[in-house]
Amino acid sequence: MLKRFLLTPGPTPVPPEVLSALGEPVIHHRAPRFTEILIEVLAGLKYVYQTANDVIVFAASGTGAMESAVVNIVNAGDEVLVVSVGNFGERWLKLTRGWGANVIALEYEWGTKADPADIAAALAKNPAIKAVYVQFSETSTGVVNDIKAIGEIVAKTPAILVVDAISGLGATDLPTDAWHVDVCVAGSQKALMVPPGLAYVAVSEKAWKVVEQCGTPRFYFDWVAARKKMSGDSAQTPYTPAVNLMVAQNRAIELIREEGLQTVFERHRMLGRACKEGIKALGLELFGPDDPEANSVTAVKVPAGVDGGKIGKLARDKYGVWLAGGQGKLKGQIFRLGHCGYFGASDIIVGLSTVEMVLAQLGYDVKWGASVAAAEKVFLKSEVLL
Ligand SMILES: Cc1ncc(COP(=O)(O)O)c(C=O)c1O
Repeated sequence: MLKRFLLTPGPTPVPPEVLSALGEPVIHHRAPRFTEILIEVLAGLKYVYQTANDVIVFAASGTGAMESAVVNIVNAGDEVLVVSVGNFGERWLKLTRGWGANVIALEYEWGTKADPADIAAALAKNPAIKAVYVQFSETSTGVVNDIKAIGEIVAKTPAILVVDAISGLGATDLPTDAWHVDVCVAGSQKALMVPPGLAYVAVSEKAWKVVEQCGTPRFYFDWVAARKKMSGDSAQTPYTPAVNLMVAQNRAIELIREEGLQTVFERHRMLGRACKEGIKALGLELFGPDDPEANSVTAVKVPAGVDGGKIGKLARDKYGVWLAGGQGKLKGQIFRLGHCGYFGASDIIVGLSTVEMVLAQLGYDVKWGASVAAAEKVFLKSEVLL
C-alpha cells in the first residue's frame, strides 16, 4: 500500500465533507433545488471574490474561463496589453494572439513580478489598449503580482483589467472591487477545494460595456447569454451544468464561510511561510521573491548536482507524495509544493520531509529534520487553526 498525498497547486485535496457532497444523487438542473444551489454558489463566490459584480459559472477547466475572457472582450485587431511572468502569462499571449488581438507583450523573466510602472508606461504610450491581461498568482513560478497597484493604474484609463486568479483566489487576499479588477477568472480545483471542472468569472460594469460591444463569435462561452440566464430568482445555467460539482462547490464555500475569509488567508500565510522557511533551512534557494503574500505555491530551485527530473517521480513512487515539477522552460530546474485550499500544517510537514528524503537519495547533503523544525517553529506562533 502507498498512502497518497496530493501536494500540488492544482488539483488540490478535497475535504471529506465536499467529497461526500459530490456523491449525492444527481438532481435535474431544471429542478427548483438546482436553482437554489446555483443562487447559493453565486452568492458564495461573490463572498470569496469580495465583489458585488456578476459572477458567471461554466463547466470548464480554468483555461475555458480564460478563453471566455478573450472572446467576450477582444475583436480581431483590438489592441491589448498582456503582462506575462510565467507559463500562464504565456497562455494569455497564446489566447489573445490566437483570437487575432494586436498584442503588446510585457514579458518578464520568470520568477520576477510585473512592475506596475511598466504597465502605466505602456498604457500611456498606447491609449488604444482595450484590456490588460495579467496573472494574480503565477502558479508556474510562485510569484504573486501586485494587482492592487496595477488596478489603480488601469482604473484611470478606458482599459479594463483582466486577472487570472485561478490559483490565487481564496488563498491570498484579492478584493476584486476594491482593487478595480474588471474581470477575475478562477477555477474550482485550487483554493476553492473542489475537483476540477468548474470555471468562474466575475465581471464589472466597466467590463460589461466592453463585452456588449464585442462582436467576436461565441456561443457556449457567451457571457451575455450566461448572465441573463443566471440572474434572478429562477436562475439556471444556459446548458447542462456540472451538477454535482456545483453541489460540492456549495459545500466548500460553506466551509470557507465557517472559517472566515480573512482566517483562510491567514492560514495560507502561515502555510506559505512555514513551507518557505523549511526550504531555506535546508540551504535550498526559493525561486522568485520570498513574498509573504505568495501563498499558493512554493517554488524551489533544484540544487546543483541533483537531477531535477527525478524529484517528482521519486516522491510519487516511493513516498506517495505528488509534488509539482517545473513547467515549460523551468522543467527540471525547479520543483513546487502547493498549499492552496484544503491544506494544513501536517501537509507541509509531509511535503518537507519528503523533500528531505528525496533530495538525500539524489545526492544532496541534507541537514536532517531542519526543514520540519523550521516549519514547526512557524506553526507554533500561529494564531489560527492549521
Ligand atoms: C494561474 C493559472 N492559470 C491558468 C491555469 C489553467 O487552468 P486549467 O488547467 O484548469 O485549465 C492554471 C492551472 O494550473 C493556473 O494555475
